[in-house]
Amino acid sequence: MEKSFVMVKPDGVQRELVGEIIGRFEKKGVKVIGLKLMVISEELARKHYAVHEGKSFFEELIKFITSGPVVAMVMEGEGVIGVIRKMVGATKPGDADPGTIRGDFVLDAGQNIIHASDSKENAEREIDLFFAKEEIIEYSLAV
Ligand code: CMP
Repeated sequence: MEKSFVMVKPDGVQRELVGEIIGRFEKKGVKVIGLKLMVISEELARKHYAVHEGKSFFEELIKFITSGPVVAMVMEGEGVIGVIRKMVGATKPGDADPGTIRGDFVLDAGQNIIHASDSKENAEREIDLFFAKEEIIEYSLAV
């Protein structure tokens, strides 16, 4: 089954939007199979965002993402990578449709409360970076 890495960023935790965000995914039928509150080290932040190294906002992004606790999650379900990206909404604030998480809660391109994997390859890489095998729990839902 497809898996995605999802993270509520420090601003999402500060704004007390963790429950709202997880609730949207639960109601959609996306299954949470890994979840932890953590403060990201600078080393992990640089690895996670390596693809953005050299961009004008990179150092600001590293400072921001390590500035406080985040909620890191692994989510599972049919086609979840695309489904979650749609529910998250576009990075550019003006492009994020109302009804999406960013469309409803974000006006800033950097402090945008949530990260979600954009491809299978990145989902695997990000899950491996943030989670040990034993922290991911496979289980069945009653419904
Ligand atoms: P995310 O989906 O986690 O992936 C890369 C992150 O870089 C993005 O969310 C934003 O937090 C950040 N980012 C992208 N564009 C900008 C920008 N123009 N200015 C500041 N931060 C940005």
